[in-house]
Amino acid sequence: MTILVTGGAGFIGSNFVLDWFEHAGEPVVNLDALTYAGNLRNLASLAGDARHVFVRGDIGDRPLVDRLLAEHRPRAIVNFAAESHVDRSILGPAAFIKTNVEGTFTLLEAARVFVQALELAERERFRFLHVSTDEVYGSLAPGAPAFTEAHPFEPNSPYSASKAASDHLVRAWHHTYGLPVLTTNCSNNYGPYHFPEKLIPLVIVNALAGKPLPVYGDGLQVRDWLYVRDHCSAIRTVLAKGRPGETYNVGGWNEKPNIEIVKTVCALLDEMRPDPAGARSRLITHVKDRPGHDRRYAIDARKIERELGWRPAETFETGIRKTVRWYLDHADWVHEVQSGAYRDWVAANYVAR
Ligand code: NAD
Ligand code: TYD
Repeated sequence: MTILVTGGAGFIGSNFVLDWFEHAGEPVVNLDALTYAGNLRNLASLAGDARHVFVRGDIGDRPLVDRLLAEHRPRAIVNFAAESHVDRSILGPAAFIKTNVEGTFTLLEAARVFVQALELAERERFRFLHVSTDEVYGSLAPGAPAFTEAHPFEPNSPYSASKAASDHLVRAWHHTYGLPVLTTNCSNNYGPYHFPEKLIPLVIVNALAGKPLPVYGDGLQVRDWLYVRDHCSAIRTVLAKGRPGETYNVGGWNEKPNIEIVKTVCALLDEMRPDPAGARSRLITHVKDRPGHDRRYAIDARKIERELGWRPAETFETGIRKTVRWYLDHADWVHEVQSGAYRDWVAANYVAR
C-alpha cells in the first residue's frame, strides 16, 4: 500500500516523510510544487530509496492529481501542501487563496471521484488527512481556556482565513459526500529543516551571524510550541486510529511568550557556541508589530490523548536543545536556503519595520 503526501518537501512534510520511513515501510508518493519553502535537500537521505517517489507538481493541477491517484492507488492522502507564513500572507495573500483554498478543493474533488470508484473494502480503509493549524481559532485573551475542537473559527490573518476555509471544505466533503476525512489542528512547530523565515530558525541564524533579532511589538505574544517529530507522530496516530469526520487538536502543552523563546535560544547558543562579542541577547531588537497580530494561541490536546492515546514525547527544553544543535551542525543547509530569494524576503519584511 502507498500513501500520497502533499507538501512533503517543506518543513513538516519532509520531517513526516523521514519519520514515516522510520516507523512504517509503506511507499510514499510525494507531490510538492517546490515553492521557496520546498527543499529536496531535506530528503537527501532518501536518495535511491525506491519507497519514495517524488513528483514536482501543484495540488491544484487536477489532471496530475487524477493521474497520480489512478497510477499509485494510495490508501491515504496526507495534505501538508500550503502557503504557511503569516507575514507573507499579509504582504501577498493571493497565493494563500490559490493553494490553501483552491488547491485543497481540487485535492478533495479528485479524492472524492477516486474513492467512489473503489471496492467497498478499499473505500472503507481510505483516509484523507488534512493538516491544519490552531490559528483558525483566532486569538485568546490571557487566562482564557485553551482551544478545544469545539472552539468557533475566528481566523484573523489571510493565512489563517485560508486554512479555515480549507478546513470547512474538508468538513463539507465528509458531510455531503461521505469522504473519510480527518483534520488535525496543530500549534506552532519547531525543529530541523524549519525555513528561517519563522521565529525560531530566524533567531538562530541571525544570532549566529551577529545580526539583530527582530521581536515584533512587546514580544509578549504567546504561542504553544511543539517539536516537529511529535507532530509527525500525532499525524501517524490520527491516520491509524482517528474517526473519519473528526478533528483533533495537537499541541505541546507548552505556552511561552515570544521574548522568552528568543532569550532561551540566545542562552543555548551562548552555551554551545560562545560569542566573543558577548551574550546574544544584546542583539534583541523590538520592531514594529505585525498587523492584526494574534496575542495568544493555546491548544487543549486532551481529545487526542483520551481517544487515541497520543502525547508529545519532547518537552520544550529537550526539543529546543536538539533544534539548536541541528542548526549548528547543518550550516551548509542554512547557507543554501539563504539564497537570493530569501534575501529579497528579508528585505521586504524587515527593512521598513
Ligand atoms: P512549509 O511552508 O514549510 O511547506 C509547505 C510545502 O508545500 C512546501 O514544500 C511547498 O513547496 C509545498 N507547496 C506549496 N504550495 C503547493 C502547491 N500548490 N502544490 C504542491 N505543493 C505546494 O509549511 P510547513 O510549516 O511544513 O506546514 C505544513 C502544513 O502544516 C501546512 O498546511 C500548515 O498550514 C500546517 N501547519 C504548520 C504549522 C507550523 O508551525 N509550521 C503548524 C500547524 C499546521
Ligand atoms: P511565526 O514563526 O511566523 O509563526 P506564527 O505567526 O504562525 O505563530 O511567528 C511566531 C511568533 O513570533 C509570532 O507571534 C510572530 C513572532 N515573530 C517575531 O516576533 N519576529 C519575527 O521576525 C517573526 C518571523 C515572528
